[in-house]
Amino acid sequence: MSKLFISCALPYANGSCHLGHLRSTYIPADIYARYNRMNGVDVLMVCATDEHGTPIAVRAEKENKNPLEITDKYYELICNDLKNCNISLDSFRRTTDKLHYDIAQQYFLKLYNNGFIYDEEIEQLYCEHCKRSLPDRYVEGICPYCGEEGARGDQCEVCGRHLNPTELKEPYCLICGNTPKVNVSNQYFFKLSHFQDGIKNWLETNNSLPDNVHNYAYDWVKDGLRDWILTRDMSWGVPVPLEGVTNKVLYVWGEAFLGYISSAANWAHKHNLKWEDYWNDKVVHFIGKDIIYHHTIFWPGMLMGNDCKLPDSVVAGGYLSLEGRKMSTSKGWVIWVEDFLKDFDSDLLRYYMIVNAPLSKDTDFSWDDFQRRINDELADILGNFLHRTFSFTERFFEGKIPQPGKLDKLDEEYLTEIKNLSDEVGKSIENFEFREGFNKIMKISKYANKYFNDKKPWKAIKENPEEAATCLYLSNQLAYVLSIVLTPYLPGKTQEIRKILNIPTETVSGFTQFDNRKPKIQWSETKNLLEIDHKINSPSPIFNKLPDEIIKDKKEELYNTLKEEEKNKEEDENMSNLISIDEFGKVELKVGQIKEAENIDGSKNLLKLQVDIKEDELRQVVAGIAKKYSPEELIDKKVIVVTNLEPAKLFGVKSEGMLLATDSMNLLTTEGKVGESIK
Ligand code: MSP
Ligand code: ZN
Repeated sequence: MSKLFISCALPYANGSCHLGHLRSTYIPADIYARYNRMNGVDVLMVCATDEHGTPIAVRAEKENKNPLEITDKYYELICNDLKNCNISLDSFRRTTDKLHYDIAQQYFLKLYNNGFIYDEEIEQLYCEHCKRSLPDRYVEGICPYCGEEGARGDQCEVCGRHLNPTELKEPYCLICGNTPKVNVSNQYFFKLSHFQDGIKNWLETNNSLPDNVHNYAYDWVKDGLRDWILTRDMSWGVPVPLEGVTNKVLYVWGEAFLGYISSAANWAHKHNLKWEDYWNDKVVHFIGKDIIYHHTIFWPGMLMGNDCKLPDSVVAGGYLSLEGRKMSTSKGWVIWVEDFLKDFDSDLLRYYMIVNAPLSKDTDFSWDDFQRRINDELADILGNFLHRTFSFTERFFEGKIPQPGKLDKLDEEYLTEIKNLSDEVGKSIENFEFREGFNKIMKISKYANKYFNDKKPWKAIKENPEEAATCLYLSNQLAYVLSIVLTPYLPGKTQEIRKILNIPTETVSGFTQFDNRKPKIQWSETKNLLEIDHKINSPSPIFNKLPDEIIKDKKEELYNTLKEEEKNKEEDENMSNLISIDEFGKVELKVGQIKEAENIDGSKNLLKLQVDIKEDELRQVVAGIAKKYSPEELIDKKVIVVTNLEPAKLFGVKSEGMLLATDSMNLLTTEGKVGESIK
């Protein structure tokens, strides 16, 4: 039996999973793993949390915690996110495991002993106040290239350039704010340049690298490879395993890859197996496009230096944006997996993320488009086909697969397509073209609906029962094949199809258990057919439409966080919160009386108000108080209105003022006279 080592990029343990992680990395890896298992391949799919690096160390210091407190928490959260999306990992460990330290140090030592690591004095930043050096993100300053403030020691977010801390202008220590000075320190370097030809050759001869990965990597080798600094002066990380070296750890990218190996080794030891057997047969890494360089240049270099086999393929998913904008966890412009799953089945996410764009391309998540695809495609095409097939079978054939009549040419062609479907889908999955595979499933489902309409079994049952029987016979056979080929894509929903079809179902939830990691359902079963008279169960719809209401709520929730964030940012930017009397004097406040109030379509927070501010001069004001007040109870209330605010549009409704209210949305009311100014 062939073996397959699948790895998924290790998520940093300082945040939960968002839809982007799932899109580029974990969903594709899971489809590939499930498909291979169904083909009898002995799969080992591993992942782990990436727990070192300066962002985690800095955060811990700022929060006055031990970094482990942070990573413990996120290990659990990430574990749950992945399990709840049915990512069928065999092993999910951590880079803080003892075994990981051992393996990472072993690899480093072997590189060292093989002569691929050398040391050199470099200039680095040192904070005298904190008595420590400031690698990577311990320091910020002005970007020497674009002049932007707040550039980090390793990279400027604005122009994207990679930086050395010493290149920053006006640097300051992120822990204490003081200006660091430059000192000299001994660090260890990996001779990546030595592997230039080997890596180039690997890129040229490996046919299983997808184009986006190959091309990106090849551009880098063509330009020549530079050696990599492998160590940092700090304490959070894997200690450099050399005698006499203290307070130096391996750079996080110098050990994170070994997380694939240590996670696999942990699993293999437990079950008396060898992870090397998997690695040496076939290795596929699933990652997002931002870390192609690391996986196709740096990692192969490290493997060569360790005399190890190189990966067979590296599959890199494009980036996910949200409603047309770049995701930003700090700004709250993000959808967390945990929140998503409160309202939607994980299979809906899997569907949307796969069919939205080819894996190698960037793509966007938008709530409206998500709803459209679920309703118009999953529910209307696939769901509708299945449901009408099952309900007609129940109604006209007592739930039994009918004996077909003589197949005409059309029927024969249809049956051939049904039988070929699994080969075509399988080929796509093998080529990492997951979207194409699903498109084939949708195409035949569309055809199946058309066939059903043409054959009109509801009419034929009276006039030509044999034809109705043929139609339902073939439709059930397609449903049966779908209940196999859909398993890698929509593992949960597919079991519902199989339940109705009254055939064995698969356990799909969470990570795999060692004893049941071989699937019950084999891909080759698509070549069988359901027997005549096989009894199916009473159906209920498998894919339901998403109502407008919930999509509106989700959109509002998302856009609100953005507004909140912008408000907070503005507040932060106004460093001083003292204002002059002149500044205050600019605000025009008047007593107003609410005359009309109504809800705004699609918004749970906002009300549209007409406020009398001066002898029947009505002002339209949109106020975010709908959760506190009903429109009726507002009528005739006398309130305080800011009357010289720049007009704005909220939910498409113009607002020309603002009512004063407390944080908890209690309106400030007054006994004053309508139109009176407030000073
Ligand atoms: N820890 C590194 C990987 C080390 S592998 C030895 C890392 N972690 S991550 O948490 O930032 O990302 C985990 C995975 O999600 C990576 O494959 C990354 O490319 C991917 N993505 C992170 N943000 C993403 C989007 N906005 N969109 C798509 N994929 C994204 O990188
Ligand atoms: Zn400091």
